[in-house]
Amino acid sequence: MATQRILDFLADRRPDGPCLVVDLDVVESNFNAFRRALPDSAIYYAVKANPAPEILSLLARLGSNFDCASVAEVEMALAAGATPARISYGNTIKKERDIARASQLGVSLFAVDCVEEVEKIARSAPGARVFCRVLTDGAGAEWPLSRKFGCVPEMAIDVLETAHALGLKATGISFHVGSQQTNTEAWDQALADAGRVFRALSEKGIVLTLVNLGGGFPTRYLKDVPTAEAYGRSIFDALRRHFGNCIPETIIEPGRGMVGDAGVIKAEVVLVSKKSVSDENRWVYLDIGKFGGLAETMDEAIRYPIVTGRDHEEKQPCVLAGPTCDSADVMYEKTPYPLPISLTVGDEILIEGTGAYTTTYASVAFNGFEPLRSYVI
Ligand SMILES: Cc1ncc(COP(=O)(O)O)c(C=O)c1O
Repeated sequence: MATQRILDFLADRRPDGPCLVVDLDVVESNFNAFRRALPDSAIYYAVKANPAPEILSLLARLGSNFDCASVAEVEMALAAGATPARISYGNTIKKERDIARASQLGVSLFAVDCVEEVEKIARSAPGARVFCRVLTDGAGAEWPLSRKFGCVPEMAIDVLETAHALGLKATGISFHVGSQQTNTEAWDQALADAGRVFRALSEKGIVLTLVNLGGGFPTRYLKDVPTAEAYGRSIFDALRRHFGNCIPETIIEPGRGMVGDAGVIKAEVVLVSKKSVSDENRWVYLDIGKFGGLAETMDEAIRYPIVTGRDHEEKQPCVLAGPTCDSADVMYEKTPYPLPISLTVGDEILIEGTGAYTTTYASVAFNGFEPLRSYVI
């Protein structure tokens, strides 16, 4: 939803070209909602969702920790006021020199999903804490994270045993149930797997203490999504089921759920046309597309709410496309998007729920278009 602050900002400043406006009040309220819903879990904001310095500083002030995917993100979190103890290097794919650099900066918590990564950490960040990521099937997620990260739980046992043998602190298990996860029960299977790894290692004398529950908490796009409390309750029940009275320390890494609904993109209609006189669907071309920040429309996965000044008028489905000379730059074609018939060149539109995974997904200068500008208010 475009908040009044965002609407006032756009009305006063009238920025030219497509831009994202993020309302920090919404970020703060999302942070507080997570804190209430999962009071026993530490929050590690996934910096990749939106690394704007104002967002990181606000979250650092509110007491958030940070999940970072690279040394650059570690440096951003530090610059925003986080201490190294509040930073997790959560990417399972790291250059050894980046592990060393993060370690020099004071970071001591790292993700792994194989013995090879454990060996790098043992060499470059001796004594660090590591957690091993296990695979999930991503069912129920609109933006699944596939098989790229994680290993099967049986392998996680070997990975953490190796970490222990190499002098690292085998700390726990992590997983990610897939982004925009609309099923509140999706954490159950992964927590069952985590419980098994905890018990298997405990029999070998290695006591794990941490479960990293990852992200996945959704933003409301066109459909309602469960509340943070509903996720909190379901996760707590699953922890009880699989860990009994020995519930481990837990952390969550919300990205989309923290900032998605805090941002709105203002865009402009550049062209409305048809491909033939009998064409059923109009083509509406915007000044923003897949390369300008709307990458998550890939495979039409994320369907953003679009608001126009003519929404009280009759609508018809349109193919929605971006402005570049690349035929991949089409957002919605398989399922055309209903927009007002009277929509015309020069009309401004608002694309809501765009606070996450937009600015950093914009190309630098594809076709000469500048990266998506962002204002944080
Ligand atoms: C390790 C890790 N944690 C957290 C997140 C954030 O996920 P989400 O935006 O679904 O909350 C991601 C997203 O890719 C991730 O890779």
